[in-house]
Amino acid sequence: MAKVIARAPTNIAVVKYWGKNEKFEDLHIPTKSSLSFTVDSLYTTTSIEAKNGSGKLDFSLNGKKISGDMPEYEYVGKLMGKLEQIAPEVKKYDYTVVSENNFPTAAGYASSASGFAAFAKAMGGIFEKLEPQVYRRHFADDKKLSVIARLGSGSATRSIPKEGGFVIWHRGISPLEEEEMEGEEVSEKSFAESLVPYTHWPELRIIYAKVQAEEKKVKSRAGMKETMRTYDKYYEWTEYEEKELAPKLIEAVKAKDFEAVAQISMECSDNLHAVMEKTQPPIVYLNEVSRKIIEEVRRMNSGGAVKCAYTFDAGPNAIVFTLGEFEGETKSMLASIVGAQNIAVARLGPGAQLVNSEFGKLLR
Ligand code: PMV
Repeated sequence: MAKVIARAPTNIAVVKYWGKNEKFEDLHIPTKSSLSFTVDSLYTTTSIEAKNGSGKLDFSLNGKKISGDMPEYEYVGKLMGKLEQIAPEVKKYDYTVVSENNFPTAAGYASSASGFAAFAKAMGGIFEKLEPQVYRRHFADDKKLSVIARLGSGSATRSIPKEGGFVIWHRGISPLEEEEMEGEEVSEKSFAESLVPYTHWPELRIIYAKVQAEEKKVKSRAGMKETMRTYDKYYEWTEYEEKELAPKLIEAVKAKDFEAVAQISMECSDNLHAVMEKTQPPIVYLNEVSRKIIEEVRRMNSGGAVKCAYTFDAGPNAIVFTLGEFEGETKSMLASIVGAQNIAVARLGPGAQLVNSEFGKLLR
């Protein structure tokens, strides 16, 4: 028997992931590389207990038992199935998985990112104890681990690298060229790595403004598929962002050029939501409150200095980047729209870690 606890943060993408390579959809190989910040204070903690058995899974999330017919069970069950294919030893054990988010699930914050990253990290800890060969082959470093997390949910791959900070998820193979490669080779090419560690930019603030906490309507998994199916200029968008914006963003983050990061962030968010709204039928995640935040961010930036920048994912909640010197002003602006109780300020943080079960201390 073995028990392991892991904690993984969420991450917020600037250059977004929205679409899978059609030939390798099940492996969650993206159509383009994406870039994100790892967030320090929004995370999932997951404990996994493994006993001799036959691959059975008992799963609870946020204090609620997740039964076999619930979508969350299906997602985790699918990842277990993929792990069994990669390593048949996985079937030698039964697993009790207890997962807690310290923020609302499925409200547009990427809970699947922190959730699957914590799950992958904890599973790695289990195999390190019980099946060292499986551990060495598939879990022993962050590159391998980010591949495993990706099989659960694409965005989870970016929550793995332990240095956190600013992370790239390399798409791996090109979506438009014919590839002769097999699944396993393709899978290994699509992984995440940290480009600058979380200590690089202590002045950066990542402010979450909760617009609503209900479950979102169109799940990202279904939404991105519909966009690819129905929007004829989809690959123009992916190529533009990857060729034009991603290299500029990497340079801007390295140079701590907030103005450039802010401009690119807002452009990428606007592009993503335009692409979503070009889907047939249109996918609309932003609501009037989100639009009000966009307007106020633009107003704050209109006086000369670029003080803050918004980004939105598959939901109406805003994430606003700013610097320590503008934190007060940005928070007041957001509080006047969503209320002070709906605002959380985060900084850059490290990636997935194992946690000491007794003291909650980070092990690595
Ligand atoms: O991996 P998923 O299914 O949680 O998709 C995440 C998609 C976005 O959050 C909208 C963009 C991103 O890159 O995180």
